[in-house]
Amino acid sequence: MTLILGIETSCDETGAAVVENGRHIRSNVVATQIDLHRQYGGVFPEIASRQHMITITPVIEQALKDAGVGYDDLDAIAVTYGPGLAGSLLVGVNTAKAIAFARGLPLVGINHLEGHIYANWLIPPDWPHMEEPPEPTFPLLALIVSGGHTELVLMHGHGQYQLLGRTLDDAAGEAFDKVARLLGLGFPGGPAIERAARLGDPESFHLPRAWLGDSYDFSFSGLKTAVLRIVRSFEEKAQAGVHAPRTRLVTSQSQPAVPHIPVNNLAASFQEAVVDVLVEKTRRAVEEFRVKMVLMGGGVAANSRLREEMTRRLPVPVRVPPVKLCTDNGAVIGAVGYYRFIAGERAGWDLDVVAGLTLPLMNP
Ligand code: KG4
Ligand code: ZN
Repeated sequence: MTLILGIETSCDETGAAVVENGRHIRSNVVATQIDLHRQYGGVFPEIASRQHMITITPVIEQALKDAGVGYDDLDAIAVTYGPGLAGSLLVGVNTAKAIAFARGLPLVGINHLEGHIYANWLIPPDWPHMEEPPEPTFPLLALIVSGGHTELVLMHGHGQYQLLGRTLDDAAGEAFDKVARLLGLGFPGGPAIERAARLGDPESFHLPRAWLGDSYDFSFSGLKTAVLRIVRSFEEKAQAGVHAPRTRLVTSQSQPAVPHIPVNNLAASFQEAVVDVLVEKTRRAVEEFRVKMVLMGGGVAANSRLREEMTRRLPVPVRVPPVKLCTDNGAVIGAVGYYRFIAGERAGWDLDVVAGLTLPLMNP
């Protein structure tokens, strides 16, 4: 049995978890900072790193306690060293180094993006069956959709990545966050848009989809600008005292920046456009590369409309982690940590953070 302590502090969640053999979550503690950042409408980097400083030790202690283990029971410490906010990453990396040094434990540096993919190796905490779910089978496609990344990756084996496409501008989650702000829906934008979209009609506005020819790359900034233009036109009409014919009263859930903006319909149409492009490009790649399955990961993979359409429109099995494992947490870092640890990888005491770290790609 191999026990890994996974530590995650790349953005605004302080996470620590104990993972057994890369698949069993023995504990998974996350201290979220969402309430602290809400007033700024996004993550405030300096506040994030200071908060990680305050919470990291109690979060790790709680993770060990929940798992019923001590430092001496661990086989290694795995810690995210990038990509992410440098000041936030430093807190996790330095804490991991200190524990590893003091306890004589091996240290493994983890790429946060791999964490989002390896969430699919973890056995969901509420797994209902006696036998474990089988491990994902290669070759497979991994779609990482988070606040900072949108990447479609062909995976041939553990740690073997071929990048098929990535966003040329905004990440999918970033687009959700920006459009939510335009619609006055608050932070974080993804869950707020999803809630509003449930009350709206996805066909009410036909928003642009950036297909970019045959490419597997993505672009979401045109879509965001299209929503901005519609919001502006409603604002101008409101200022001129004209009420647009499609205007509908928004529900109490939504707090539009300006009255008379059909927030729910816009949210639903926006979400549909993002989902359409993500699903269609993934479907094309499934056919071209004849993969066995598709894995999703990252905060946007929590979106139920995306999960639904991926499963419905793809000809191969689609795996999506439970919502709690889509967003940032230590368990996914512990999962990658196990596979890297058994492959013999070790970080030195000079392990540094890399804010712009990318996936380790195979030679083309
Ligand atoms: O993976 P994550 O927790 O952090 C990063 O590594 O970036 O992703 C956060 C992103 C945010 O942009 C958030 O708005 C988005 O994931 N998100 C969602 C949903 N839940 C979180 N986007 C769409 N629908 C959701 N239900
Ligand atoms: Zn993330």
